[in-house]
Amino acid sequence: MKLNKLNIGIIGAGSISDLHFQAYQKLGEAVQIAAVCDLNRARAQEKADKYGAAHVYEDYHELLANPSIDAVSICTWNNTHAEISIAALKAGKHVLVEKPLCRTVEEALNVQQAVRESGKVLQVGFVRRYDANAQLMKRFADSGEFGDIYYAKASCIRRLGNPGGWFADKERSGGGPLIDIGVHVIDICWYLMGRPKVVSVSGNTYRRLGNRGNVKNLSFYKAADYDASQNTVEDMANAIIRFENGASLMVDVSFTLHAKQDETVVKLFGEKGGFELEPAMALVSEKHDIILNITPQTDQKGLNVTAAFQNEIRCFIESCTTGAEPISPVEDGVELMKILCGIYESAETGREVRYE
Ligand SMILES: NC(=O)c1ccc[n+]([C@@H]2O[C@H](COP(=O)([O-])OP(=O)(O)OC[C@H]3O[C@@H](n4cnc5c(N)ncnc54)[C@H](O)[C@@H]3O)[C@@H](O)[C@H]2O)c1
Repeated sequence: MKLNKLNIGIIGAGSISDLHFQAYQKLGEAVQIAAVCDLNRARAQEKADKYGAAHVYEDYHELLANPSIDAVSICTWNNTHAEISIAALKAGKHVLVEKPLCRTVEEALNVQQAVRESGKVLQVGFVRRYDANAQLMKRFADSGEFGDIYYAKASCIRRLGNPGGWFADKERSGGGPLIDIGVHVIDICWYLMGRPKVVSVSGNTYRRLGNRGNVKNLSFYKAADYDASQNTVEDMANAIIRFENGASLMVDVSFTLHAKQDETVVKLFGEKGGFELEPAMALVSEKHDIILNITPQTDQKGLNVTAAFQNEIRCFIESCTTGAEPISPVEDGVELMKILCGIYESAETGREVRYE
């Protein structure tokens, strides 16, 4: 007997969409990449040809009006995430929306309401949660291996890595490195800490270096429509986030900084032990009055981006098919928007932002 295939539409056919296309393609029989939409028709057509999609659209409303589409990946600019998610849910489609969920808390709450009204699945693209090492460490943390986790450190420093184009346009992106890459490392720490309730944030943002578009001989991730001539987002941000259980999270992120090298750090510290996901997986423990640094023996020491996307999309299809709650539900997208927007507000006012 033939299984019912899920028909997938991909909205936004730029740089990151390839990881979505490839992951859907690898699922084989379970899904059919049926439609592609991009404001840039040639780009949509190119991806449709490459991945065998029958329908090509410039206007996402037309894709959503196609009754054969069951689920969509939204890989567009951040300013369209809320609008397209809500429209897709209203059209009866399941949604995988790229991070960040949107740009503001208000938008996030509107998406949450649409999810609840539609009864459809919405998974936020917090891809780090779907990495094998993150899932492994989550199992250790949940089983009490590290005791109460009271401190974490999240860092994502690019010395040269403003992706340009819409990423550098605050109106379309919602902000710079904090909302673009900070969202990933803050989220993975918060998730591994057990998602404690946030009570306050205090942050700083800086625009001192610009996008360093003058630098030569170093390549970096770029938006499909890269343009270095405009930049209205911060270069770097830092913050301290406090939680109801007394735990705290320190963050720093940059698109440009006079740092010696790029660096990603995800470290968590508990009463019984600590662990690191980045730059490489490690466990720290104490036994018989001896400190032990333990290296788990696994295939990958750090994040495996392609495998994490594959798992993210496999989980999305599983949720669409079974109705199971996603590992990264809309509620977590809302909490992250509260944290990110709180940090921007704190930086602007020079004061701590407190949550009731
Ligand atoms: N999970 C990750 O690690 C990761 C990595 C990179 C980007 N992203 C996210 O993916 C999204 C896209 O990023 P990107 O790097 O692919 O950007 P990109 O600029 O390369 O591609 C975005 C595409 O969306 C299209 N688009 C914009 N608005 C549209 C609309 N209303 N209808 C149809 N098409 C529209 C653009 O024409 C463009 O082709 C962003 O939200 C970004 O934050 C996630």
